[in-house]
Amino acid sequence: MLDIAKIRADFPELSIKINGKRNTFLDTAASAQKPKCVINNMVETLTHKYANVHRGSYELSEQLTYEYEQARKQVAKFINAKSEKEIVFTRNATESINLVAATYGRSKLKSGDEILISEAEHHANLIPWQMIAEEKSLKLKVFKINDDGSFNKKEFLSALSDKTKLVAVTAMSNVLGTIFPIAEITKSAHQTGAKVLVDACQYAVHSPIDVQNWDCDFVAFSGHKIYGPTGIGVLFGKYDLLCEMPPYQTGGEMIDTVTYEKTSFALPPARFEAGTPAIVEALGMAEALRYVESLGWDNIISHEQSLTEYTRKALDNIKGLTQVGTAKEKGGVFSFVVDNIHPQDLAFILSREGVSIRTGHHCAEPLVHRMGYETVARASLGVYSDKEDIDILVKSIEKAKTFF
Ligand code: ALA
Repeated sequence: MLDIAKIRADFPELSIKINGKRNTFLDTAASAQKPKCVINNMVETLTHKYANVHRGSYELSEQLTYEYEQARKQVAKFINAKSEKEIVFTRNATESINLVAATYGRSKLKSGDEILISEAEHHANLIPWQMIAEEKSLKLKVFKINDDGSFNKKEFLSALSDKTKLVAVTAMSNVLGTIFPIAEITKSAHQTGAKVLVDACQYAVHSPIDVQNWDCDFVAFSGHKIYGPTGIGVLFGKYDLLCEMPPYQTGGEMIDTVTYEKTSFALPPARFEAGTPAIVEALGMAEALRYVESLGWDNIISHEQSLTEYTRKALDNIKGLTQVGTAKEKGGVFSFVVDNIHPQDLAFILSREGVSIRTGHHCAEPLVHRMGYETVARASLGVYSDKEDIDILVKSIEKAKTFF
């Protein structure tokens, strides 16, 4: 069992007051709060360890290069990759997906090939495919989800064909909280010869990723959603595939040899890390992953499952509130609308009560429309969330209702 009070004390920002009220932070799906160990790790790197990496044969640079590569190993272990060579550091999940579209998509996909995505994708797992589809005359197909937001196996299988060359799906929707059966999706996709990219941005925070069990070809996630800093993300790619892909950006450190006439490129992951990387952030993210592991996944999952159930029931009991996305397979992300209150007004009133939620289309405009709304409110949980957060949320929504 997790000691949530102790965990909350690890996150300094949770103890600040918002409008004189308890900080009821329910926007972890947008970006998580940071534990002290991550903050301290970054301060320590900047204060006592800083130098560029992979470029110096002096003590500071060699030491930090070692730690930067240890961070890569930490990520590989965290997602059970076979090797740290399969881990590319990027700016965030968005950049990871754009990297695959611009390199794998541009070099491997041919006119008439199909890319298959679900209705539940974030813009970051939709627009890069739209762009590459237009550029290369590919077909972008979108398979339907069920009305409760759950994965629709029948729709997926009927959209999949031997023309499908890439399936790009979320492991957990940032709007609905729905969890997709990735291992099952990958198995079917591979049977037709398609590669699979998984947007694991939300999933990474809620359950352990096992890329060998999923057997997917690419996985993208961001450091800032998993209690790490902004400006750092991960692309996992099966090593043989990464080796077949041309560079994404060019510049320092991604080369083998350079002349004025021609350049040959380094092997992955260096091939995809042009320029000075986000060194401090990579170390900070590795610290965040160690923090999560130190809590224990079984404990995290059991805490989140019980709080998810508590939240689901608490929201159901609010008259006039409709939950958007009610799949059984669901993590701690709750979108909802309240009769006669625009989500933006609701968020504003909640903020006066110290409650932070997100509103809008959550970077998934087609999905919000498909669910039948223009805009929705969203409360999302982190490992530090507790019943008190939910009780305050409920009380604040009830109070907001009295204004309309
Ligand atoms: N994709 C992030 C969210 O869901 C920013 O809020």
